[in-house]
Amino acid sequence: MHLYHLFLTLGILVCLGSCFAPQALDQPASPQEESKDVQLQFRDVSQNLDYRCGPRWGKCPGGTCCSSAGFCGSTKAHCRSPDCMIDYGMCDAHRLPKGPPTRDIPRPLIGKVPYGPQEIRTCTEPGTVALTFDDGPTRYTGDLLDLLDKYEAPATFFITGVNNGKGQIDDMALPWAPLIERMMLSGHQIGSHTWSHEDLSKVTPVQRTEQLEKNEAALRNIIGSFPTYMRPPYSSCVAHSGCREDLGKMGYHIVLYDIDTDDYKNDDPGLIQHSKDIFDKALSFGDALTKSWLVIGHDAHEQTVHNLTEHMLQTIRRLGYRPVTVGDCLGDPRENWYRKDSRWPGHAGKKKPKKGPKKSQPTQQVSVDGTCGANYTCLGSPFGLCCGSFHTCGNTTLHCGAGCLKDAGYCTIEAPRNGDAWDPSFPSRSGKSEADSDLRNVGTAAVTSLLLALIAAMWM
Ligand SMILES: *[C@@H]1O[C@H](CO)[C@@H](O)[C@H](O)[C@H]1NC(C)=O
Ligand SMILES: *[C@@H]1O[C@H](CO)[C@@H](O)[C@H](O)[C@H]1NC(C)=O
Ligand SMILES: *[C@@H]1O[C@H](CO)[C@@H](O)[C@H](O)[C@H]1NC(C)=O
Ligand SMILES: [Zn+2]
Repeated sequence: MHLYHLFLTLGILVCLGSCFAPQALDQPASPQEESKDVQLQFRDVSQNLDYRCGPRWGKCPGGTCCSSAGFCGSTKAHCRSPDCMIDYGMCDAHRLPKGPPTRDIPRPLIGKVPYGPQEIRTCTEPGTVALTFDDGPTRYTGDLLDLLDKYEAPATFFITGVNNGKGQIDDMALPWAPLIERMMLSGHQIGSHTWSHEDLSKVTPVQRTEQLEKNEAALRNIIGSFPTYMRPPYSSCVAHSGCREDLGKMGYHIVLYDIDTDDYKNDDPGLIQHSKDIFDKALSFGDALTKSWLVIGHDAHEQTVHNLTEHMLQTIRRLGYRPVTVGDCLGDPRENWYRKDSRWPGHAGKKKPKKGPKKSQPTQQVSVDGTCGANYTCLGSPFGLCCGSFHTCGNTTLHCGAGCLKDAGYCTIEAPRNGDAWDPSFPSRSGKSEADSDLRNVGTAAVTSLLLALIAAMWM
């Protein structure tokens, strides 16, 4: 009898050690709330004994979800991505943002910063530190925005559309969209961290494209444009998978980092000092006259938001560095950070200022000699999509950025410089957004005590 208990306990302990290893080895993955998996496995065993799923068993029946442990069900715990297995049932990953797809929006490779397949691991502007936060928005993101405001420190958010059971970021009943708007208003940069945080090296090319395009549409629904910067989940985008080429073709800069704070491993008051030490040690090499740093953290973790970030901001100041966005640390002008979806109708209920009566457009012809203007459009011409201020077509920043003629082609500038809602130079309309939600009410502590109680019960 005792032997049986011993095996059970050992089984659980072994599982604790291995079941929750990061999904991709030595990647700075956020472990995506491992604690819930524990609960999930117990619930599954009691409720879904008959319905197994996964590589050995196949798909779940009837539109149910296949949990990471290989059980069918339709609870939030079964369907939450990225744990849910996308090839063996439904998942949050399969949800769709509203509105038209972004697939056909032109993606000229504007600016001087390299696009995929090249990966970016370092900043180029001396004296800058780009703090980046992945996996949000979360219940902690509002507090982080308060802190960054206090230090007047721009940062970069790599946003995931539907991870960890949080619902879709473009669901206006949830707190996420106002937080994302607030990021824009406060001068932060928004990048994509994909729709549901799948490993882009392991999914099919079609799934990979969907992961980017769905997040584009969701962000478009909130800010009217979508980013040219992205970070692959688990920082995984290996060369032989074709991932890097695909992202380049979609017009993305692939952003990694040169300081990994390891914050997701140290989310505890007793451990977070490790992350502080990593950061301070890295910055102690070289000086602010010549060096710059690209730092990865996660606003999904309490200690990152309530402890580590303020420490990093103080170190940045003390050593004479400037906190900036990723775009700024690479010397890339803001108009290159996003691609505008001109079909975006704006926020519901907010009237767009009308600029006089609408001119009746004369029918334009496609440019035949590379010039453009009132009568000739660059769209459809072989010279490039954008009509620059000097009336020639091209795909460069000179053509597509500031001064671009909107009536004669495509322009990447995502907002006229007239105080449109998402222009950060425009004074903030709203104060702080409520970031709190009840989505994560299962604390690690609770699950740990549950486990301990179970083990104790078994030995009795
Ligand atoms: C300009 O960019 C578009 C879309 O990204 C592409 O189809 C076209 O071939 C490019 N043209 C030139 C001249 O580079
Ligand atoms: C912040 O981190 C330090 C260690 O660096 C720790 O001693 C302290 O308790 C933490 N504070 C909070 C509020 O968690
Ligand atoms: C465009 O066409 C109109 C009518 O055909 C003509 O009056 C005008 O001068 C043209 N504009 C330019 C810049 O060529
Ligand atoms: Zn992540």
